[in-house]
Amino acid sequence: MSILKAAIIGGGHIADQNHLPALAKLSDRVKAVSICSRDIHKALALADKHGVPFAYDNPDQMYRSEGKPDIVINCTANNLHYPFTMQALENGCHVFCEKPPAMNAREAREMADLAKKKGLILAYNFQRRHAPEYATLKNYQATGNLGEIYHIKANYLRRRGIPGWGNFTNKTIQGGGALIDLGVHILDLALGLTGYQQPTRIVANTYDFIGKSGGKGLKGAWNPSTFEVEDACFAHLSFPGNVSISLSTSFALNMEQEETINLEVFGTKGGARLFPLSVHTEIAGELADIRFPHLADVDFQLENTTAFLDLCDGETANICDGEQGAILQQIVEQIYQSAANQ
Ligand SMILES: NC(=O)c1ccc[n+]([C@@H]2O[C@H](COP(=O)([O-])OP(=O)(O)OC[C@H]3O[C@@H](n4cnc5c(N)ncnc54)[C@H](O)[C@@H]3O)[C@@H](O)[C@H]2O)c1
Repeated sequence: MSILKAAIIGGGHIADQNHLPALAKLSDRVKAVSICSRDIHKALALADKHGVPFAYDNPDQMYRSEGKPDIVINCTANNLHYPFTMQALENGCHVFCEKPPAMNAREAREMADLAKKKGLILAYNFQRRHAPEYATLKNYQATGNLGEIYHIKANYLRRRGIPGWGNFTNKTIQGGGALIDLGVHILDLALGLTGYQQPTRIVANTYDFIGKSGGKGLKGAWNPSTFEVEDACFAHLSFPGNVSISLSTSFALNMEQEETINLEVFGTKGGARLFPLSVHTEIAGELADIRFPHLADVDFQLENTTAFLDLCDGETANICDGEQGAILQQIVEQIYQSAANQ
């Protein structure tokens, strides 16, 4: 197996903390050759820190020089996922793109279509799929002991977690608020248990009361006068076969806990809670709860980067691919449309 050459576009937090460390751990399969960020000093500093040979301040230059990669990891802000992914595919590179897939359904669809047309891999970094609780739940589902899953409650809620840094409250750069930043992670997990289908109906509401009025923040101080996105989103998704998902996500909500991320899964033979994993069923005529106290620690990013490389090598892998990303982005768009019509 030849070693793939990787380029990072967007030299911020996720590139530094997640992707470059994962690439270093997979040095028998991939080598980071280039870093591209709009600020060349940032690109050079990150390249120096992670031992990457080439740094650029724009990808055009990178594709025309020795730093041209086989794979691109798109770590830019949400509004740049589409243009840099399309450009990378046009330049013959496989793309591992950060979440959310794009700003809207059209962009995500075009990204998936171009990857398919070019015979290249496109996948997204929904790394929470590799949580051992989720992998075990999927395996348990495959035994048939949950029966048919008919409803999932999917929550990613923060009490006062509007980030006081970055672009999180800027609609033009982010495309939305809590849903497009946090909710997409838990939506990916819920869709993965229900066949990754397109819903037939969506009813949603979004709110911005706390974001626009200001108040105490637990993730820094935000500016209410420039708050342009939703601070909370509640959506009911109805799928073919009478399957449903209830999705709740917030940057800010007057609730007791600081943060909660969870799935509650309800099937005809059993149900489950994801964190910590427990299964709720009936055994020998009695109600029973099964717990899983021996799950191993997993490096989610390492697992998801490995899955991406497996796809590039022609293997199957547990990763959100271009097609699933397009479905997820279509659902996000429909949730925002439904909320706008309330
Ligand atoms: N999978 C996850 O759990 C997870 C976690 C955090 C962030 N993310 C995603 O990663 C992406 C980046 O987030 P971040 O926290 O690293 O943000 P960040 O602001 O720290 O980094 C973004 C980087 O993109 C660079 N950039 C901006 N314009 C550019 C251009 N024209 N050309 C090249 N580079 C440019 C910026 O200079 C910056 O370094 C977002 O889409 C975010 O949703 C995913």
